[in-house]
Amino acid sequence: MARLLVTGGAGFIGANFVHHWLRTHAGEPVVVLDALTYAGNLANLEPVKGRAELRFVRGDIRDTALVERLLREERLDTIVHFAAESHVDRSIHGPDAFIETNVQGTHSMLKAARTVWLEERVAPAHRFHHVSTDEVYGSLGPQDPAFSEHTPYAPNSPYSASKAASDHLVRAYHHTYGLASTISNCSNNYGPFHFPEKLIPLMIVNLLHGRDLPIYGDGRNVRDWLHVSDHCRGIERILEKGRPGEVYNIGGGAQSENLTLVETLCTVADAAFREHGDLAKRFPDAPPGRGKESASLIRFVKDRPGHDRRYAIDCRKAERELGYRAEVTLERGLRETFAWYLENEWWWRAVMDGSYQRWIETHYR
Ligand code: NAD
Ligand code: TYD
Repeated sequence: MARLLVTGGAGFIGANFVHHWLRTHAGEPVVVLDALTYAGNLANLEPVKGRAELRFVRGDIRDTALVERLLREERLDTIVHFAAESHVDRSIHGPDAFIETNVQGTHSMLKAARTVWLEERVAPAHRFHHVSTDEVYGSLGPQDPAFSEHTPYAPNSPYSASKAASDHLVRAYHHTYGLASTISNCSNNYGPFHFPEKLIPLMIVNLLHGRDLPIYGDGRNVRDWLHVSDHCRGIERILEKGRPGEVYNIGGGAQSENLTLVETLCTVADAAFREHGDLAKRFPDAPPGRGKESASLIRFVKDRPGHDRRYAIDCRKAERELGYRAEVTLERGLRETFAWYLENEWWWRAVMDGSYQRWIETHYR
């Protein structure tokens, strides 16, 4: 039985992981530590609200003393470290927060784990799992082989550089102090509770409002899409079977050019509007509600500076050693994700208009 500290557990992937873990590990304690930045929201934890195993603590991963206290108080033996600034576009406009949270914050987590687990020996059998990204490997050409765990690091954005720095620190704490750490580098996630600043949820919300669908550059950049439920199962496998000191790539095996992906999403939306007559009334500005195609909203806009051309993940090591397999195809994942946003309009309206955030501010001063 593991006793978990999940940092960033009110964010997109962290919250999905908490839902998954409480489903598959009922009765095992989980403490979520989250600063509730713009990207973190208690609304993301609604599905597990009231679960006796769950304790939510609003706090900063850079507060080393707080993390040490939680590890001791709750006798936690496993950290799953998601908390980060995660959006590339924001890192281009304001890199400082990325250095503070992703680099200093991860170092603060490592220091706390070292003090409590290695020096005070509170949990001799422990695990520090660090969640990272394929973006640390840089950009691939069209014919290059996919990123493996041996691909040299070549981060290109302030975001990926800050994640690369945090990966190096985790590796060093294992090598130097013997911290039992693992790292996963995964591709682009999508699914429920995804904040509508990233490509897929932004396109869904814009489409429903009849707003432009902005495609950066020529739209030929390739991403390897990973449904968040597959990612959560991959992390679970690493916690159960992964070897300390090892790195595992987790991918979805679903490469797509951005333009193709957005066109597919438009097709999914058009089909959903044809099938469900009420959608045209609920979303009167969406093109398929007015007899037009969603793809009519696609607009090519100025490219992102330093935009990486292609990411692709070789996850054969995780398949071989952990029995990991991505199960959700991109087509099914996009259909289900679009349906989730239709069914959970309350969620995206609340996180976008800040009403949940304002509620939080009055409850967590
Ligand atoms: P997110 O932005 O949705 O959530 C980040 C969470 O961290 C939020 O809840 C936020 O409040 C919290 N947080 C931020 N700064 C904090 C701090 N100083 N102290 C405590 N909490 C803080 O991010 P996400 O998409 O869920 O990503 C989770 C992790 O996965 C990140 O480490 C990210 O780098 C990595 N990752 C994400 C993707 C992706 O496609 N989303 C892909 C690869 C890797
Ligand atoms: P994003 O979701 O920001 O993830 P990342 O930059 O970490 O891969 O973007 C995914 C891809 O979609 C990326 O190539 C940038 C592109 N993109 C657009 O074309 N338009 C948009 O409005 C956004 C947010 C992203």
